[in-house]
Amino acid sequence: MRAFGWLALMALAGCAAASEPPGAELYESLCAGCHGVSGKGDGVIAGELPVAPADLTLLSASNGGAFPWDRAMAWVHGYPDRYSGRVMPEFGPLLDGETVMVVAEDGTRVPTPKSLVLIVSYLESLQEG
Ligand code: HEC
Repeated sequence: MRAFGWLALMALAGCAAASEPPGAELYESLCAGCHGVSGKGDGVIAGELPVAPADLTLLSASNGGAFPWDRAMAWVHGYPDRYSGRVMPEFGPLLDGETVMVVAEDGTRVPTPKSLVLIVSYLESLQEG
């Protein structure tokens, strides 16, 4: 379901540096250490974790070919206590700040931290196939 996020993405298009995908910088500083620059789960500390970091280039492939926007947003944000016992940190507190309105898969409009939208848009750009 690619419809999710388009409103926000259109609003953000003007702010993104032309030469790199939106969110690339945030991804590289916050996520690449575990998931790898390519997103394939081969970050520098990946081998030291008790659970292997997910291959982020296969999120669409493992969701019937559609990028799982809602699931990825919720996962990266973490929502306190929603996912107990996971290895990956919650990024919600770090990404709080300016919000943009996005349309969730069920049609609800949700004010969402702009940096979260940027990172998850970047994840969408990493999808293979
Ligand atoms: C400390 C290492 C670490 C960091 C940093 C990290 N992750 Fe993860 N991530 C993991 C691990 C390990 C998993 C596998 C699930 C678990 O935590 O048990 C995972 C799972 C995921 C998933 C779930 C994929 C699915 O199957 O739905 C997504 C999406 C994701 N990470 C995105 C990110 C993004 C975006 C960032 C940066 C904002 C990030 N991760 C930072 C370790 C990390």
